[in-house]
Amino acid sequence: MVVQGEQFTIQGNSISDLCAEYGTPLYIYDSEVVARQYAKLKSVFNVEKLSINYACKALTNISILRLMHSLGSGIDAVSIGEIHLALKAGFDPNQIVFTPSSVASSELSAAKKLGVRITLDNLDAIRYWGVHHPGIPVALRINPGVKAGGNEKISVGHSDSKFGIPIRYLEKVRLHLKENNVKVIGLHMHTGSDILDVSLFLQATDILFEVAHTFQNLEYLDFGSGFKVPYHPNDATTDIDLFGREVSAKFNEFCAKEGRQLELMIEPGKYLVSDAGTFVVRVNAIKQAINTIFAGVNSGLNHFIRPMFYDSYHEIVNVSNPNDTLEDYSVVGYICETDTFAWNRAISKIRPGDLLAFRNAGAYCFMMASNYNSRLLPAEVLVHEGIPYLIRRRQELEDLFRDLTDPEIHWRG
Ligand code: LLP
Repeated sequence: MVVQGEQFTIQGNSISDLCAEYGTPLYIYDSEVVARQYAKLKSVFNVEKLSINYACKALTNISILRLMHSLGSGIDAVSIGEIHLALKAGFDPNQIVFTPSSVASSELSAAKKLGVRITLDNLDAIRYWGVHHPGIPVALRINPGVKAGGNEKISVGHSDSKFGIPIRYLEKVRLHLKENNVKVIGLHMHTGSDILDVSLFLQATDILFEVAHTFQNLEYLDFGSGFKVPYHPNDATTDIDLFGREVSAKFNEFCAKEGRQLELMIEPGKYLVSDAGTFVVRVNAIKQAINTIFAGVNSGLNHFIRPMFYDSYHEIVNVSNPNDTLEDYSVVGYICETDTFAWNRAISKIRPGDLLAFRNAGAYCFMMASNYNSRLLPAEVLVHEGIPYLIRRRQELEDLFRDLTDPEIHWRG
């Protein structure tokens, strides 16, 4: 979203016009931003074989997946549903890496049947794999025991995290692999999200290299993701150039030492789609309290939970009245809970009916939405080559009843 005179626009389309056409609340995505982020990330690595596998949990709309496909991306999937979406979007099974956590063995087998690359993250899974899919090579997710990430909930590489196989169990793992005749062709790790400090990434990558030296049949190393994007205008972002340079050098050195050319993989979510998304809501009511003025909008934690769940900062602009005097508002939702998007935030004077836009709403925003309070999910629009496309219709009242079986039960009383 950029400012053009008095207007906020996405590839020349004014936000107000898009809202007039598609209604509010509305998620709008800008394909140019996704393409820019993809190109930037690709440019920082200097290795012979690179795969950028989009962590599609960030935003799985099939049109976004098709966009990623057109850019040359692969897919990181964490559920059988994501695998099916990616296949439907046109990805070849070998462009999809499956990196689930604690899934049922039946899901592992279903993924194997679809031909995707499998990552196992626990000893039981290794045992199961050896018995049910002998001879089919896999990757292992390693937990490097490094604490990194923007907050507790998204810090997943430390030694008490549920993710991956802790490196202290590696000897046990080796025994399991041998006993069950499981061949490992890849190693994977992912330490968290919103990681600013490149040295933490590198600490974890060094551990992965150390482990990798002890496996003989590796074809790829997957370094996960977690690059921090700027949510606040003054936020720093992960020094992606430094990361790419350092990891490429270490990777090339590793390949030279081992005498084999491996594939380097990463699996970004936020970095590719966060800044591409804008979420637009309409102001229903202004209410004066003692310590604040509330601007109540036609949405809430049901559509956009990051501010409440992670205390995340998302910039808010008054699209309808951008250049008026700044006043402090608490922007809140309509859910019957305290769903505060921002507390006492300076925003250009807000009037009932104004449109407010949240920046950085591409990653983990629509995807974490729900029907809480029996509210309907918003629509999604993708702007590509200047043209807006509706890529998900707004839910209708009937959608609330769709999955209910409502059997005839004889109620007593
Ligand atoms: N790879 C794996 C195995 C992951 O679990 C994740 C994210 C990623 C890659 C992508 O990480 P990213 O590049 O997006 O940081 N809902 C939270 C973030 C949860 C991340 C879950 N895993 C948020 O909104 O901050």
